Amino acid sequence: MKLLEDKIKAEGIVLSDHVLKVDSFINHQMDPILMKEIGIEFAKLFGDKQITKILTIESSGIAPAIMAGLELNVPVIFARKRKSLTLIDNLYTATVYSFTKKESNDITVSKQYIQPGDHVLIIDDFLANGQAALGLAEIIEQAKATVSGIGILIEKSFQPGATTLLSKGYHVESLARIASLTDSKVTFKQD
Ligand code: G4P
Repeated sequence: MKLLEDKIKAEGIVLSDHVLKVDSFINHQMDPILMKEIGIEFAKLFGDKQITKILTIESSGIAPAIMAGLELNVPVIFARKRKSLTLIDNLYTATVYSFTKKESNDITVSKQYIQPGDHVLIIDDFLANGQAALGLAEIIEQAKATVSGIGILIEKSFQPGATTLLSKGYHVESLARIASLTDSKVTFKQD
């Protein structure tokens, strides 16, 4: 998606050869115009999949997910990383290990929000090792619902996440794919 690639070129900061900082439009300050266009793009990419729900993970997946939900006219659920005080029972749970942050989080979703027969689109901001998407897919499968697709804003194609998800048969669409971050430069993967 050219708009997202242009924004990454203009405002992304390469912190190391594997971390891209996008705090000015995704991870801290958010760009609503860009998020709206991202929602429209995901609706185009997954519009024929009879999506009934969108599932993301807090916090940075929420903005693009809600915009996609608006376009597809479906509810948006975000998995929580901490157990809620008011949501004690009836939770689907998966453990997600972050290689980037070197920590594990139990992620949870209330059983009332995903039903067998739902066609769920997963949305997240970054795809690195794929662990967050796999955890979300595990929750959807625990609910006996279908993972209808995985929509990613920024795929770091030099990390194994995309290959892992594709090898499991998931339909993955990444709006920007980064081939490398070497020499403080963002190089996009060409189709
Ligand atoms: P994975 O799910 O693909 O395996 O990714 P990983 O564990 O490596 O990512 C853990 C967290 O780090 C996620 O955010 C992810 O969005 C973020 N992340 C991974 N690579 C980058 C990167 O190059 N740049 C930035 N800015 N973030 C990256 P999170 O912990 O869920 O945080 P948030 O959603 O609350 O922002």
